[in-house]
This record gives sequence, structure tokens and C-alpha cells, in this order.
Amino acid sequence: DKGNHRHFMQKEMFEQPEVLSHTLGAYVNMTDGRTRTPKGQELDFTKVRRIALSACGTGYYAALVGRYYFERYAGIACDLDVASEFRYRESPLSDVDLALFISQSGETADTLASLRYAKSQGLKTAAIVNVPESTIAREADVVLPTLAGPEIGVASTKAFTCQLMALAALAVRAGVDRGVIKADEELEFTRALMEAPRLVNEALHLEGEIEHIARDLATQHHALYLGRGFSYPLALEGALKLKEISYIHAEGYAAGELKHGPIALIDETMQVVVVAPHDRVFEKTVSNMQEVAARGGRILLITDHKGAASGAMDGARLLVLPDMPEILIPIVFAVPLQMLAYHTAVQMGTDVDQPRNLAKSVTVE
Ligand code: F6R
Repeated sequence: DKGNHRHFMQKEMFEQPEVLSHTLGAYVNMTDGRTRTPKGQELDFTKVRRIALSACGTGYYAALVGRYYFERYAGIACDLDVASEFRYRESPLSDVDLALFISQSGETADTLASLRYAKSQGLKTAAIVNVPESTIAREADVVLPTLAGPEIGVASTKAFTCQLMALAALAVRAGVDRGVIKADEELEFTRALMEAPRLVNEALHLEGEIEHIARDLATQHHALYLGRGFSYPLALEGALKLKEISYIHAEGYAAGELKHGPIALIDETMQVVVVAPHDRVFEKTVSNMQEVAARGGRILLITDHKGAASGAMDGARLLVLPDMPEILIPIVFAVPLQMLAYHTAVQMGTDVDQPRNLAKSVTVE
């Protein structure tokens, strides 16, 4: 039942404040604010120095964010592969202490095969899954749930942000286990994570403005998404969402890679979406954006209040989110990217919930 929404995808985007808060409840004890993993799924990060992450599609972009989280908040190095590569790459896993898989459906063939490969190599395995009775959930040593509820729309939205929430809380837990996050800092992090539903709700309020922008985007044939740091995986995810449901050709790039190739594509027909909250790499991304502006590219800058107030945005169309703690950036900034893809697809009249050639669960390789 879509309720009063036009598509499941729209309904699922609007469910995010609620399901994020459910998911957080599985990883934080709400009475004392301490992070934990669910009962019976204990995970001790004390001796974990290296994690191998693997997933497909949107789950892989969640894993990319996960790498930033684990490295930054817990000092744990991460290896990262799309599952279709991990399973065949046969990379030496001797220094990996934990293999972590991410899957909404828990049935994706390549991710399952990767999990089995890791087990055959004697690794401890954990899986972040949305379907608790799935094959991946049954076979992983440790099951880390996302409580997004059933996701019907083929393009993943709420499962993705819930994966990010689980990863953020796990990274904080790992930081505590490894002694790099002190007790008072842990509380600060969990307080920040508890702000996610409110901030995502504020992002959802930008829908009218995004609908307007989407009318323009729907007339374009190409889009380039740029981001740095936490915003780099978001650029990839934003481009994937757009191509999946609107069929507009879109690519995501690390902003710093612009001058190593894609800048050759920039002219007045290239739509560039820049994801740049006012974080430690903001100035760098802005300078890449200016290179796009100088070549006549059409720019949409998705930023926060601080970013918007810093000037130097000549010629860019702005979409402004509230300021927020760094750990929330991936979760909250994912929302306008989802909505932009959604409304562009609606404008174009595509089958949003059932895009051509795609299946919700990819059980063949
Ligand atoms: C994109 C999308 C796909 C899935 C991918 C993995 O919107 O939904 O890219 O993320 O097929 O699926 P799961 O997470 O079920 O393993």
C-alpha cells in the first residue's frame, strides 16, 4: 500500500526518519546512550585491525561510506570490493580480521558467494541485512540488522540510509572497543546519530524545491556528480539513482579526479551536481566547481547553511540543507539525491518503482 504517495519509492523515502530511528535503536542503548550490537550478535572490535567490506550496487556505496567511518572513527583499515570482484579476486586475506557484507535482500548471488568464500578462508563474517530470514543472514556468523522494513521500490532508498546508520554506530562501537573514542565522546556521537530523523525530515521538506530543479534536469542528457570525502560515495550513489530510474546518463566522480579526464566533457550541455557540505574538504570541492563554472557547465550545488554562506558560488543553483555533525553527512545528504532522481524520473514518465531491465533482488551472477 502506497498510502497517499504516488510511488513506493516516494513512500519509502518519507519513511526514512522513522526507520532510521528504529535501526539506531538496534545499535544504541537508549537509556545510557552506549553503542552495542544486537543481543546474540556480539562483535568485539578490540583486536580488529583490518576489515574487508564487500557488497553490490547501492550496498557497495554504503560500504564505501563504511570505510570512511571505520577508518576515521575507529582507526581500522578497510579493504573494499564489489562482491562480483571479491569472489573471484582471491586476494590474500591473511591480515583481515573481519569480513563485512552489506545486502538489503540478503539474497544477492555475488554477495552470498563472497560471504562463502570468506568463510572458506576461515574468516569471521558479519552481514548487514534488511531481510532477517534471508540466506546471507542465515550464513553469516554475526547478523547486523537494518530495520528499514520491506523495500518495494527497485531503487534502494531507506535500506541505504539505514545501512549507513548501522555502519556509523558500528564504527563508533569499534572506536570505543579500540580505545580511540572515550566514553564522553561516545555519548556525543550517539547524540548526533539521534538527530538523524529530525535532519532527514528537514531534508524531505526540500521536496518542492527539488521538484522544480528536476524539471530542468529532466531535459538534460548527461549528468556528472562530484564529491570528496564522505560526499564521494554520495556522488556515486546519486548518479546510480538517476540512471536507474530516469535513464539519464550519469556518472559519479571523486571531485579531485575532475581534471584527470571528465573535465573534457564539460560544456553548457553538461549538468554537474556538486555534493559539498561545509566539511574539511569543502574549499577543495568548491575550487573544482569553479573549474566547471569557467567552462560553462550547469551546476547544482547541494550544500549546507555554512557552505551556502561562504560565497564563491557564482552561477551555481543551490540546494541548502541544515548544518549537521560530520557523522550524519552521508545519511542526510543522501536524501536530496534520492529525491532529485525520483522527481526527474516522474517528470520523464518512467516506471519509477519497476525501472526497465532491473530486478529488486539479483540472485544470478
Ligand atoms: C540500487 C539497487 C541495487 C542493489 C544491489 C544489491 O538502487 O537497489 O544496486 O543495491 O542490487 O542488492 P542487495 O542490497 O539486496 O544485495
